[in-house]
Amino acid sequence: MKEILAELEARREIARKGGGEKRIAAQHAKGKLTARERIEVLLDEGSFEEYDTFVAHRCADFGMQESRPYGDGVVTGWGTINGRLVYVFSQDFTVFGGSLSETHAQKICKIMDMAMRNGAPVIGLNDSGGARIQEGVASLAGYAEVFQRNIMASGVIPQISVIMGPCAGGAVYSPAMTDFIFMVRDSSYMFVTGPDVVKTVTNEVVTAEELGGAKTHTTKSSVADAAFENDVEALAEVRRLVDFLPLSNREKPPVRPYYDDPARIEPSLDTLVPENPNKPYDMKELIEKVADEGDFFEIQKDFAKNIITGFIRLEGSTVGVVANQPMVLAGCLDIDSSRKAARFVRFCDAFEIPILTFVDVPGFLPGTAQEYGGVIKHGAKLLFAYGEATVPKVTVITRKAYGGAYDVMASKHLRGDVNYAWPTAEIAVMGAKGAVEILYRSELGDPEKIARRTKEYEDRFANPFVAAERGFIDEVIMPHSTRRRVARAFKALRGKKLENPWKKHDNIPL
Ligand code: HXC
Repeated sequence: MKEILAELEARREIARKGGGEKRIAAQHAKGKLTARERIEVLLDEGSFEEYDTFVAHRCADFGMQESRPYGDGVVTGWGTINGRLVYVFSQDFTVFGGSLSETHAQKICKIMDMAMRNGAPVIGLNDSGGARIQEGVASLAGYAEVFQRNIMASGVIPQISVIMGPCAGGAVYSPAMTDFIFMVRDSSYMFVTGPDVVKTVTNEVVTAEELGGAKTHTTKSSVADAAFENDVEALAEVRRLVDFLPLSNREKPPVRPYYDDPARIEPSLDTLVPENPNKPYDMKELIEKVADEGDFFEIQKDFAKNIITGFIRLEGSTVGVVANQPMVLAGCLDIDSSRKAARFVRFCDAFEIPILTFVDVPGFLPGTAQEYGGVIKHGAKLLFAYGEATVPKVTVITRKAYGGAYDVMASKHLRGDVNYAWPTAEIAVMGAKGAVEILYRSELGDPEKIARRTKEYEDRFANPFVAAERGFIDEVIMPHSTRRRVARAFKALRGKKLENPWKKHDNIPL
């Protein structure tokens, strides 16, 4: 009996070695952790339960039968993050470069199926050279099995991808269909085809970093949601994100203990909006002053900075925040910011996370670049996302809410539940200058007249009261009481029930 137990332990020891000491040392030399070390950092201590430790590939081509390492390049199983269940797969670059074989895919599919049945997130730690070249179509089939599960799981359980090495080909398409992608600076790359193929096909000379590094994907392509300095930081931030999320769409987001008075008054907010309506201010200050303990988890911080998206807690409960940022492009909506915010709003709605919207928006960004790029369709994404969302929606207009952008930003007319405005709000079709230039074109030669007309327009429209008269604004509130007002509003909305008409699915302008 003792011998059998010892054999199991010996086999486990071999499995833990993955592709061997030399390759592990090479992984460490690149500043990367191994697949198992990453799982240890990600999960609560001692909580990991591994499955399929002894699975090996069945490929007999290209001499592959000579090398059949346990685990086949991926470590799979489940564990907990602050006591809550999550399923994990972690690709092992030391085994065939973490490439995906038929059996490697089957291991991932097994834990995805379990996660779906049991209602828990899947976290994928990706470090893979893509399809296992020696396995040909069997590997492609394996990818498609994973993709299909990504699609079925979308909106049912949160799916988080961390890119922790070179991810090429099929290795990027599964993450692309998950809810959040994190990258590690200087050691992770994502591309459909690498620099060599790019050079052959398009003659472009580009480094891996330029083509698909963390900077490229968090600032240019918006494929990734955040980038971190190293493996440990990225994994710690995944733990932080998971704490905000429900385990599945069958559950409410977690409620954490909080030590911040929901009725906390913030006198500094009374002077946040500058006297000069064209002067910017930092909307993040408002978000942080409203949030429990000032804790804000920002999503896509480095992309489309004219809109801010992320999670806070109010009275311990998760709330998704969308806010125009007057510091960048005056807070205008454009193609990128509309896409960014629309995706975030849809994530929140899919997982029953209430949405708080802070509005200071002078309108959509004009210009040929925007029109040719399809701002009509992309802007419509955000409009659509807000309009279809049935979760509690609370909106606060701090300053400008002009034109179509007023409608889009969770207005009353898109089923906003509670719509507040600060006394500094200006709700109108457009700003005074633009309006006067259109309405009084014939008087443009007379500066005095124009100044008078502008003043008239400002007196009439540069305030929240015209909208409040119609009930489009539920109440004009003091900036210092925003946290209390918003927290109370969400509390009152906890029992909200709203359903959209039955349909197979909608046809959001993709
Ligand atoms: C089998 C692979 C592999 C692969 C790497 N290896 N990629 N084995 N299939 N796809 C092996 C290498 O042979 C090597 O084995 C070990 O992993 C480490 O690889 P290195 O090249 O030494 O490492 P590095 O220099 O860090 O380069 C990593 C890399 C490079 C950038 C990922 O290996 C690479 O370009 N691989 C191929 C990428 C690719 O084109 N994949 C197919 C994509 S097509 P030894 O034994 O020497 O340690 C695809 C189709 C799916 O994925 C489409 C679905 C929609």
